[in-house]
Amino acid sequence: MLLQTTTNTLIDLSQKTDGSQDRAAFAKDVAEGLSQRPKKLSSRYFYDANGSRLFQQIMSLPEYYLTRAEYSLLQQHRAAMVEAFAAGGFFHLVDLGAGDAMKTKLLLGELTKKGKDFDYVPLDISGAAMRELSRDLQQTYPEIYVQAVVAEYITGLQWLGQHLPKRKVVLFLGSNIGNFERQEGQKFIRQIRQHLQPGDLFLLGVDLTKDPATILAAYNDASGVTAAFNLNLLERINRELGGNFDLDAFSHFPLYDPQEGVMHSFLVSEREQEVYLEATQARYTFAAWEAIHTESSHKYTLQQATDMGRTAGFEFVTSYLDEKGGFADMLFKAV
Ligand SMILES: C[S@@+](CC[C@H](N)C(=O)[O-])C[C@H]1O[C@@H](n2cnc3c(N)ncnc32)[C@H](O)[C@@H]1O
Repeated sequence: MLLQTTTNTLIDLSQKTDGSQDRAAFAKDVAEGLSQRPKKLSSRYFYDANGSRLFQQIMSLPEYYLTRAEYSLLQQHRAAMVEAFAAGGFFHLVDLGAGDAMKTKLLLGELTKKGKDFDYVPLDISGAAMRELSRDLQQTYPEIYVQAVVAEYITGLQWLGQHLPKRKVVLFLGSNIGNFERQEGQKFIRQIRQHLQPGDLFLLGVDLTKDPATILAAYNDASGVTAAFNLNLLERINRELGGNFDLDAFSHFPLYDPQEGVMHSFLVSEREQEVYLEATQARYTFAAWEAIHTESSHKYTLQQATDMGRTAGFEFVTSYLDEKGGFADMLFKAV
């Protein structure tokens, strides 16, 4: 931490001047996904301004235990975490997929209170989220130097490897790892390791396997916010790619597979229909009850998560659990 007030910086690696590249990539992914059998859309496109707002609502739903569990474990263990982070002197605190950093702020508060020497590097694909967070932290913690990075994870990791010379503590919270297919998740953690030096730390937030009914309810809330969040993907396609999805003709369908430990979200076409996208100048047909896969959320046992870290080149240090034992933040050290 720098003792004087600092001016935060924003590094935009999304390489767009007018959003055209982003739109082209979005259009290409949507066209590919809707032409595939079975159909698929990437969960990375959930988070436009409306999607981020809906996700904030999801986080406070009674059924959505994930955020509360991780928040409470951070409250309970933040003092121990901060001591573990700061044991080697100055460090860059890197927050992958930081979003609004609601939970990370618990750590920022503790680090500041204890006078630890660090700077904060939140990284997110959402430019709006990073601009907002940077402004917010300038007000709340003017003494913390914040370099917010707008980038896709891999581009961001490359930048971090090249531009952050000191020791790093990398956070990947919120069970974001669950959105990767298992093999992809393993590969991603290996990529994180490749951009770190021996001794750097990695804190991984993992939603643990538990009663399937509890998991299913978290993605199928009674008030319909998760359904609105899922459907917002089609609304975003309509708005940004000139689509004509009829939102009333699609419904949210969640499914938990307790053997694979994975929660799936689908959007189901309630009738036979055709959708046109101006951006691709193409039509996509849907049979009645044909589904689009929009999200996977993999759950892990502590052993599976430990093995994943070890296979990627980390040593397991410890796990911090919430009181119910349903969520873990697992600390690893690069070897
Ligand atoms: C579920 S939110 C989690 C926010 C926060 N870390 C937490 O635990 O509450 C996921 C965040 O990851 C970001 N994200 C998703 N895919 C990404 C990608 N491929 N590259 C960079 N950021 C991404 C989203 O924009 C969003 O802010």
